Amino acid sequence: MCGIIGYVGKRKVSQVLLHGLKKMEYRGYDSSGIAAVSAGGLKILKSVGKIENLERKYSETPIEGIAGIGHSRWATHGVPSEINAHPHKDCSGKIAIVHNGIIENYGELKSDLIKKGHKFISDTDTEVAVHLIEDCYDGNIEEAVKCALPKLKGAFSIVCLSSDEPEKLVFARMKSPLVVGLGKDEFFVASDVIAFLSFAREAVYLENGELGIISPEGLKIYKFSGEEVKYKTSMILWNADMAEKNGFKHFMLKEIYEQPASISNTLAGIITNDGFSFSDAHIDLDLIKKVRRISIVACGTAYNAGLLGKYFIEQIAKIPVDIDVASEFIYRESLPCDDSLFIVVSQSGETADTIEAVKKVKSKGSGIIAVTNVVGSSITREVDGVIYTRAGFEMGVAATKTFTAQSLVMYALALYLAEAKGILSKNAIAPYIAELKLLPEKMEEILKNVKNIRRVARMFHSCRDFLFLGRNLNYPLALEGALKLKEISYIHAEGYAAGEMKHGPIALIDCDCPVVVIMTKSFLYDKVISNIKEVSARQGIVIGVASEDDMEAESYTRVLIKIPSASPYASAILAVLPLQLLSYYIADVRGCNIDKPRNLAKSVTVE
Ligand code: M6R
Repeated sequence: MCGIIGYVGKRKVSQVLLHGLKKMEYRGYDSSGIAAVSAGGLKILKSVGKIENLERKYSETPIEGIAGIGHSRWATHGVPSEINAHPHKDCSGKIAIVHNGIIENYGELKSDLIKKGHKFISDTDTEVAVHLIEDCYDGNIEEAVKCALPKLKGAFSIVCLSSDEPEKLVFARMKSPLVVGLGKDEFFVASDVIAFLSFAREAVYLENGELGIISPEGLKIYKFSGEEVKYKTSMILWNADMAEKNGFKHFMLKEIYEQPASISNTLAGIITNDGFSFSDAHIDLDLIKKVRRISIVACGTAYNAGLLGKYFIEQIAKIPVDIDVASEFIYRESLPCDDSLFIVVSQSGETADTIEAVKKVKSKGSGIIAVTNVVGSSITREVDGVIYTRAGFEMGVAATKTFTAQSLVMYALALYLAEAKGILSKNAIAPYIAELKLLPEKMEEILKNVKNIRRVARMFHSCRDFLFLGRNLNYPLALEGALKLKEISYIHAEGYAAGEMKHGPIALIDCDCPVVVIMTKSFLYDKVISNIKEVSARQGIVIGVASEDDMEAESYTRVLIKIPSASPYASAILAVLPLQLLSYYIADVRGCNIDKPRNLAKSVTVE
């Protein structure tokens, strides 16, 4: 969850590090630090809180060098404090490292190192790694890192700097992401390409069990076993503009507004003249025809998109689908089924629980494909095929445009499966595709009319609890609406299947509890209206999200948000936009830190 960075080159090293850390602040932001080697030896600056605090320190006491390392932290071991902030150094004060991940055997390593006389000052697991490197050090930092690595257990990516070799960085990857950026006579290494998008257009993604060195002489990559790796470079498709707010108050708002474009791009990546193509996913048509069950695994918002996918696939392709949150799936006794296909959904492709789920599936020999937004991410290397959402870089911690892009992919996949299994003909699919092409336009319409949603936000921003209800395709939206609201506004919110409300949550309803009901037209509309009446009878405040052509909706609700009319399937992709906007404006009125909500990190790389 932390962000790490290293730089070797002629620019002002600390400025490159600070720039990169700010871009990666979404990965963690409770404290940060940088280190570089200048004439006086290894210098470290650390600060608690936002990167701006570190920038302030840097402007008072600048540190420079040819090479430097930096870190922004999301605390796991030890409270956020300067002592626990990275970089950590060894007893001699010559070696510094930054680390992302968790060193699981740090307890035993620490006791051994203490017995050998090493002095620890922090509560972190990371500090053992730098003392271990010191223990192996014999004048060559590369050899010392190579010697220390096999002793570390867990997930880690590290970057290491030594004042004896001040122009060189040694780094390694085991289960936590690490990517090298190749600029002109300059080199970057970071948890995410976003850190060096402004400076490099080519990248090398490290594999697990690889170690690298960057210096003015260039890049070398080795396996932990010592064998040199012939690495492949990839062009970076994202541009630096994607990491700017471009006039929007927050990244989240910018990304909500990017949804028409993200939907068009994602569609362009999977649509052909007369259907869909998932060439990167290597979906074997013979296998698809035999698929008897699909299992979807994901976390958070990606889980909600996966759940929507379950409804799409079951209704359209008539294949039974089960779905799990990854953290439960990995420790559950899942019963094997022949002819089953697994689908993992993950925006970042780096979520630790989802990666573990992929490993579990692979160990059982089942086929697995991933729906992800990040090219080259860890999950893409583990699965049989990938369907990319082309939503562009998502900076806001609260996922928005990737949810609609994932939902679109799941819908397209359902249609593809239905055709492959002979349930729908090409001709029958054509009207669905025609409607999908209209989605961006309909989204634009919602985004042009936010006045009403802002008004609703002002009316209810001080409420303590919210309920979100929906049935069938709208149930995942209720979950997503509640997740968005609690993440960024810290208001307690629950998403429920509307029919399940009477089995418990109805007890919460009173005149202070707004109940957002997604009530777009479907075969269950009448049942939803009954649920609304049950809420109203208990003085609950019903906020309806309804189709434009629904003339009755007003009579059932206290407050109404309308969206363009569409089929129930397309409505399920559209109706989340007002929910995202409602959460955004409520959080804004409450003065919350929308892009960096407390305690959260964008990619959760610990279990
Ligand atoms: O990168 P992933 O899609 O695997 O991330 C999964 C969740 O951590 C993520 O969706 C999280 O719930 C977001 N903060 C939701 O806004």
